Amino acid sequence: LITDIRLRRILDSRGNPTVEADVLTESGGFGRAAAPSGASTGEYEAVERPPTEAIAAAREHAVPRLVGEAYAGNQREVDAILHAADGTDDFSEIGANSAVAISMAAAKAGADVLGAPLFQHLGGTFRGQNVPIPLGNVVGGGEHAADATDIQEFLVAPVGAPSVEDAVFANAQAHAVVADLLAERDVACGKGDEGAWAPSIDDSEAFELVEAAVSQVEDDVGFEVGFGLDVAGAELYNNDSENYEYSDENRDTAEQIAYVAELVEEYDLVYVEDPLDEDDYEAFAQLTDEVGDQTLICGDDLFVTNTDRLREGIDRDAANSILIKPNQIGTLTDAVDAIELATANGYDSVVSHRSGETEDTTIAHLAVATDVPFIKTGAVGGERTAKLNELIRIADDAT
Ligand code: PGA
Ligand code: ZN
Repeated sequence: LITDIRLRRILDSRGNPTVEADVLTESGGFGRAAAPSGASTGEYEAVERPPTEAIAAAREHAVPRLVGEAYAGNQREVDAILHAADGTDDFSEIGANSAVAISMAAAKAGADVLGAPLFQHLGGTFRGQNVPIPLGNVVGGGEHAADATDIQEFLVAPVGAPSVEDAVFANAQAHAVVADLLAERDVACGKGDEGAWAPSIDDSEAFELVEAAVSQVEDDVGFEVGFGLDVAGAELYNNDSENYEYSDENRDTAEQIAYVAELVEEYDLVYVEDPLDEDDYEAFAQLTDEVGDQTLICGDDLFVTNTDRLREGIDRDAANSILIKPNQIGTLTDAVDAIELATANGYDSVVSHRSGETEDTTIAHLAVATDVPFIKTGAVGGERTAKLNELIRIADDAT
């Protein structure tokens, strides 16, 4: 039984405040978790409130309904109470940041009571056997860095890695090779919010660099290393001009579809996230029809981890995979429901970090618990390596 919930403001990786929750139970269980935060947030995400307000609202509405009332190990009950306490359909009362912090902290307290690792508590006996392949962000721009690439994320996908450890180190190596290649070209640059290099180069040069890095790493490690993208199309799309606005040119929807299909062919992309605007199921469906048998077309801002939006996407054949971010929807139950709906309809799920993160490792456990094929959680940087190192520990049975 939950006996106390403590909420506080802590720092995230951008230096912004975020919500941390502690959940304590009668039998001595303890769980602590913190909400991440997006920068290129989808229009249809659950609502993140300023942490001070989210904490006050959660203390008033949610904490009294959970303390002395719910068991931390009963995740569905905890999450149903969070929804009932909030009373809206987008967590705009208590904030999705308070909701997800409490939801994840309760899961950790539940695992602690059982004396089991979190992935085992969440996955049960019959799941949680596979550690996902991490997609590593090595070059990026968009909303994550000023004066860098238009496409938000250039990702390394070590699809042939024999272990998660090999995959994690392949991504870090690609990140380092990109730095060498930039130095050779005398391009000085810093890093974006997720630790990817954020050079002031155009997208075509970034494609060239990452392709070179990927093949160099592939030669070195001896297993298949693929190339992926998060276009973050909604950030490029201008609703008034109805164009995808790149620094050097504009593309209308048909041109954007053709451009992305060309990129898939040219770079043998294994993964393309949000190639199109978050409102354009139709354009997503056209692209998926063209290249969906060669690559994963993943909806992030399109689906926002929301089963209603995913159902619409499934009905319209809009994609073949979904990005899963628990804070987009507010609870672990909702995130797991989205993964289960996806799996039942042949969609792959990719569990993901946000650009603003903390040391919290819940998503590493969620990804293992749900047997998803991929996790996207960066390549370097403490708040990213927290998850990557936790995956290595899980594979080593050492959590
Ligand atoms: P965000 O970006 O966390 O800033 O929304 C990540 C993504 O678009 O996948
Ligand atoms: Zn995205």
